[in-house]
Amino acid sequence: MRYLAIDEIKDGMLLAKDLFSNEGKVLLAKGTKLTRAYLERLKDFDFTHLYVLDSENDDDREIMGPVSEVTKAQAIKIVKDTLGKALVVQNVDLKQMNMVADIILDEVLENNDVIYNMLDLKEHDNYTYVHSVNVCIISTIMGKHLGLPRDRLKELAMGTLLHDLGMVYIDPEILNKMTNLTPEETKQVQDHARLGFERLRTYTGLSILSAHVAYQHHEREDGSGYPRGLKGDEIHLYAKIAAVADSFDAMTSNKLYREPLWSHEAIAELKANAPTKYDRKAVAALSWSVAPYPVGSVLLLSTGEKAVVVNTNRRKTVVQFLEGKRKNQFLELGKDADLQIEKRLA
Ligand SMILES: [Fe+2]
Repeated sequence: MRYLAIDEIKDGMLLAKDLFSNEGKVLLAKGTKLTRAYLERLKDFDFTHLYVLDSENDDDREIMGPVSEVTKAQAIKIVKDTLGKALVVQNVDLKQMNMVADIILDEVLENNDVIYNMLDLKEHDNYTYVHSVNVCIISTIMGKHLGLPRDRLKELAMGTLLHDLGMVYIDPEILNKMTNLTPEETKQVQDHARLGFERLRTYTGLSILSAHVAYQHHEREDGSGYPRGLKGDEIHLYAKIAAVADSFDAMTSNKLYREPLWSHEAIAELKANAPTKYDRKAVAALSWSVAPYPVGSVLLLSTGEKAVVVNTNRRKTVVQFLEGKRKNQFLELGKDADLQIEKRLA
């Protein structure tokens, strides 16, 4: 199984995972033979990359993500609905969001070796919603590694799902601008943290600590963040976790104005910025919680061989050779001390 740019996919390759629309409906089922016509259509839906199998004999073991694809699609839809309603009604009913946060928690808590190993099929139109769900999943796994009990993980999950709610009040023209923002526009965008908090604090049934995730997720340890320039202990643990997860997801996402970093590069950058910008414990939790080489990554090994990551969790990373003498064979990285990862190719 491989994760390829749509233009690199050849006629007849098979889709390795179900594809969901923004509304959570299956667009194309796993196992579908891909044709040019399908691929062109998927481009219209803003898909840029897909998980594919080269043939029916290809290894198609389930990709063990931290949460199921169905849960993720459902969560994206609910975040989208909730944020949309925040613009028009005063008190949004959070019943559905509570339900989806509980499902994410169940799935994350169920698996002891759980790790965030998703390569995302991100779409620009949906960025805020997909991003909110990613930040929630990553933060929940981090919180679990930090030993938070379920009730606190729930506050963290709700806070992270809603952390960018304030974005709905920002002029879309500014958000979609391709050029640099003026200082005035930057100020307006930064105001999303406060605006989100002001709204969330009025929601019945939502913990004030969840609302503070929205308020504080852009604060930085040295006081260089916004909106209040809080420092160190003034920043709540949930917001420290959310800041790291938020930055990680933003760094590794496709955005219009820059190339995404690979997961291992983003982890290294966050480590380099701790403890100045990010809390050291939170960054350590991130490095236990996300796969440096997610399933589908194509690696160049020190032997000169190319291999694709087919399975990864906290304890191991399994690759399948793509060429050479060992083509199609599997290997657990780390088992052979002489074999190192030289670099990530795709
Ligand atoms: Fe934000």
